[in-house]
Amino acid sequence: MARIPRRKIHGALVGSTVSLLQSIERAVLRPLVMRLHGKIERGKLLQYNLAYEGSPGDIFVVTYPKSGTTWLQMIVYQLTSDGAMDFAHIDHVSPHLEETLMPRGRHISDLSGTPRVVKSHHHYRDIPKGPGKYIYGVRNGLDVAVSYYHHARTYFPGWKNRPLNEFFETFMKGHIPYGSWFAHVSGWLRNEDRLNVLIVHYEELSADLETGVRRIADFCGITIDPADLPRILERCSFAFMREHEQKFALEGRRPPPPAKTTPFIRQGKVGGWQQDLDPRLVGEFQKACDERLRGSGDDRFRVLSARDAWQGGPTAPVPASSSARELDAAADDAPRVPLGSAG
Ligand code: A3P
Repeated sequence: MARIPRRKIHGALVGSTVSLLQSIERAVLRPLVMRLHGKIERGKLLQYNLAYEGSPGDIFVVTYPKSGTTWLQMIVYQLTSDGAMDFAHIDHVSPHLEETLMPRGRHISDLSGTPRVVKSHHHYRDIPKGPGKYIYGVRNGLDVAVSYYHHARTYFPGWKNRPLNEFFETFMKGHIPYGSWFAHVSGWLRNEDRLNVLIVHYEELSADLETGVRRIADFCGITIDPADLPRILERCSFAFMREHEQKFALEGRRPPPPAKTTPFIRQGKVGGWQQDLDPRLVGEFQKACDERLRGSGDDRFRVLSARDAWQGGPTAPVPASSSARELDAAADDAPRVPLGSAG
């Protein structure tokens, strides 16, 4: 029988030990480190939120990314000021809680001006809670996914040349900044702590901006001077905001990405997904909506149910099933993938 040289045996042993260690690293250590990181971040968040002294005048503009956040910030700015546009970036008038305030150790109470207006993409459980007003913007998830894909191609490393289908799968798993769209939307719609929340649909604003602006003004206790209305509507239009893109795009807050492919104020359409997404993906999305977006049971809100989440209309609220809650909790706890800024 031929003898196997010692060197070969040694080589094979080293090889299998290395691959065993790599598997342990992938399967055990990496998730552990991510979970640990998640726990530390959560601890910081809790500490930050505990220090929040809320005021009834505070206004939070909250969304899942790409749901029309900047549009809502602009509406609130136009309603609460003379609308002069004398800011370099919208972040200066309604700072991003988790990207501008928290990392610099700045608190909402440090903001000057009344009302204090803050933007956030936080999930419901993570938002500082108080007696203020919370404007939650929600948009058809399929349009959100397509918009987020273009955002990722411009701002997330490695996504420039990857296909929409791949991004969509990632979106469905919630492996992107701010995690699961389903968990985000259902948490805010359920509003279990009974915060003072106004739900604003992107589709509503798109169909009738004036009515949407008036609803927001009423909610914030603002009376619109009729002489100001034309200015407000003109400045909140897609055309005006596109013209002032640099005051809204991410690069207004930091250096531009090396190869910007798409404007931040990109298309502003309802139902644009129909040209881009194949029916199989739409079917997957709809099935997930059926399981996950079974309403809040609170009739103060229009609730997105399965089909309406992608068709845009209201339906009767349906209490969240316990399995939907469990899915949301699991998605909330999933480690966030640090890819870049979600805007
Ligand atoms: P699209 O990429 O589909 O065009 P966010 O501010 O949450 O990042 O959302 C960005 C989305 O809101 C983009 O969607 C952008 O074009 C759209 N948007 C911004 N301002 C708008 C406006 N005035 N009218 C309609 N859509 C607007």
